[in-house]
Amino acid sequence: MSNRRLNTIEDLRVLAKARVPRMFYDYADSGSWTEGTYRANSADFQDIKLRQRVAVDMTDRSLASTMVGQPVAMPLALAPTGLTGMQHADGEILAARAAAKAGVPFTLSTMSICSIEDVAENTDQAFWFQLYVMRDRDFINRLIDRAKAAGCSALVLTLDLQILGQRHKDIRNGLSTPPKPTLANLINLATKPRWCWNMLHTKRRSFGNINGHVHGVADMSSLSSWTATQFDPRLSWDDVQRFQDRWGGKLILKGILDPEDAEMAAKTGADALIVSNHGGRQLDGAMSSIAALPGIVDAVGSRIEVLMDGGIRSGQDVIKALALGAKGVFIGRAFLYGLGALGEEGVTLALDIIRRELDTTMALCGLRNIEDVDQKILVPIKAVIDEVTRS
Ligand code: GLV
Repeated sequence: MSNRRLNTIEDLRVLAKARVPRMFYDYADSGSWTEGTYRANSADFQDIKLRQRVAVDMTDRSLASTMVGQPVAMPLALAPTGLTGMQHADGEILAARAAAKAGVPFTLSTMSICSIEDVAENTDQAFWFQLYVMRDRDFINRLIDRAKAAGCSALVLTLDLQILGQRHKDIRNGLSTPPKPTLANLINLATKPRWCWNMLHTKRRSFGNINGHVHGVADMSSLSSWTATQFDPRLSWDDVQRFQDRWGGKLILKGILDPEDAEMAAKTGADALIVSNHGGRQLDGAMSSIAALPGIVDAVGSRIEVLMDGGIRSGQDVIKALALGAKGVFIGRAFLYGLGALGEEGVTLALDIIRRELDTTMALCGLRNIEDVDQKILVPIKAVIDEVTRS
């Protein structure tokens, strides 16, 4: 397919939908319950308006920045996403390679298909590892040790998924990995020959970090029952301290949406927090990440680096998050669509689309250096509200 027809993240989404089996496409492209928070994550970006500036020198622009002290070619990382290796065979390795080429961090999920060791062996750049806390604390300790041994350069500890928000599509599709050979699944797989061909040529088809490492856990029978049995609903701030001590490196706390929790996160001494509602996949009815961001920056921004995820589908979205005080952002679905559409090339394309949008948007706002982006590039919120209420 000519890349001239793939100019936006939405173009990649449409192609991914055609190529990825429904069960896994739906897993990525859905939120919990009414999906209200999932939709608000993207929609709320549209209410933020940028100030257009003209006749300013736009030469020699730079998007280079840092996240948790590490240099990045642009202030964006690939988010940890479960089952990435089911969007495309060997998906985590392919996405990590594309991230390395683009000079941005890749975050490997606990729920990945390719294991920590496998990704480390097949890529050159250190990646970040995301930790879910499971009931088996020996297993968690070993995971932390494995991430350290593999040279991971930051640990992203997820705090907002001790129990699972219900996603209706996953239940309807009987989400499991590998897919169960039901008639409906077989009919759907028959329409995805490229995906099947690639999957037949890889050994990586189940949870690489978990299978063989936890007694009694084999393939996932269904995501909801599996999570209910494995994930630890008792997770507390004391545990955070314990994991931090064991890890001893850069720590990022993911899933903060409330300023009171942000205070707790800042007190741990972690290097960063991620303002996140898990892509609208957990508490449906919670506010969007971009709406929550300013309150959290106000509360703790001088004490801890604030990152954000949720709803980012363009460079314009990235710059709005930076203007509201995020030091960097994560993209999840935006890169998964590229992966499902075209494998590694698609992730590279997704990153390139966002980088070009970010660069041009920064220039049209009258800036040449991404580190200079602040609230001044935004139309004051009150002016937007007045405009909306007038029409
Ligand atoms: C986590 O892995 C999720 O499904 O959101």
